[in-house]
Amino acid sequence: MTTITEPRGAATTVDGSIPTIPAGSPLLLLGRRADPASERGVLCPGDLPSPSDPGLPERARRARTALGDRVVVLGHHYQRDEVIRFADATGDSFKLAQFAAEAEAPHIVFCGVHFMAESASILARPDQTVILPDLAAGCSMADMAQHGQLVDAWARLERAGVATATVPLTYMNSTAAIKAFCGERGGAICTSSNAPRAMRWAFDQVRADAVAGVAPKVLFLPDQHLGRNTAVLSLGLRLDDCVVYDPWKPDGGLSDDELRAASVVLWKGHCSVHARFMPGMVTAIREELPGVEVMVHPECRYEVVREADRVGSTGQIIRWVEAAPAGARIAIATELNLVKRLAAEHPDKEVVFLDDTVCFCATMNRIDLPHLVWVLESLVAGEAVNEVRVADDVRHWSRIALERMLSLPGDDTSLVA
Ligand code: 13P
Ligand code: SF4
Repeated sequence: MTTITEPRGAATTVDGSIPTIPAGSPLLLLGRRADPASERGVLCPGDLPSPSDPGLPERARRARTALGDRVVVLGHHYQRDEVIRFADATGDSFKLAQFAAEAEAPHIVFCGVHFMAESASILARPDQTVILPDLAAGCSMADMAQHGQLVDAWARLERAGVATATVPLTYMNSTAAIKAFCGERGGAICTSSNAPRAMRWAFDQVRADAVAGVAPKVLFLPDQHLGRNTAVLSLGLRLDDCVVYDPWKPDGGLSDDELRAASVVLWKGHCSVHARFMPGMVTAIREELPGVEVMVHPECRYEVVREADRVGSTGQIIRWVEAAPAGARIAIATELNLVKRLAAEHPDKEVVFLDDTVCFCATMNRIDLPHLVWVLESLVAGEAVNEVRVADDVRHWSRIALERMLSLPGDDTSLVA
């Protein structure tokens, strides 16, 4: 099964049509329906092994060995332990994009979410296949910005007379179509590890031909929190310099004057996992664990990030925990699989989760050992299942946008300059 921007292999209804959910639904229901307008979501119809089969780890090992250098398994830090232990390389979304661009193997099994596999496919050679073990592993944030909505938003900027003074910058967590739209309009992509650098780069591009009387601006999507945190905490802009464009409101909910005055137009999107963290949790943990260092992902709200000691991507958080001295107390606000793993790997340090309640990323968790075994054994049998491939027209401009990001020097060590 191959996906070419639109999901295929989706469940069908009795009359044979593909059941859809209303466009814009943020989260696809257990992968059992298709939303052609969204980033992801199909039934995974594979012949999956039983999750209770105790032989699964051995089967994964055997298939991995049989495939040798014909496959490379990439794993995002949010993946389950049962999956990440089979990854040849692990990383944050920036590192994984680099790995994909450099991979030699004919098959890349991407243990992460759909936008990551899609980016890997855009950067890989056309003869390489990128496989996502469960095609329903989407991202609710990516689903919050749809291509048609971005077309409308850009038309809105044109009506306000500010489009020529605007460079679009999209977070990696977006569809290939959104990436292509940004690439075609001189924009680029960023991840949580290089957002400050990418936003500065974007402003530099505007200044080359800014419109007189209009503030140079960046349209940042889909994560309003990463955009705001970057603009205010790294670039030193004021909160008032940022406005929020709501794709569900007429005119985005903004007047022409508001658009003309703004430096950063933030898309109204967020991560449902990171938005759970609240500033009161930082206050509470500081009382509970004196001396604790609070590390947060930049997808958290500004009010949380402002209270933290360090702000960084998943890769940066890992490096900071590794570098902390024995006995250090560290509270982390990011996805729970990663925090639990860090706590287990550093028993000499007290690593705790910032929230009191469970906070897994539901779609990252869809990649489990049965799905991994299924795709690896299928490859051994000569079949590449669940391939993610991007249509050629989308591939062209999204690749340019991704390459602009990869050519920015290094990754930032922290969001806060
Ligand atoms: P990183 O870029 O830090 O890996 O984050 C990806 C992501 O999806 C966070 O929610
Ligand atoms: Fe998307 Fe949030 Fe999950 Fe990351 S943690 S993949 S942004 S839903």
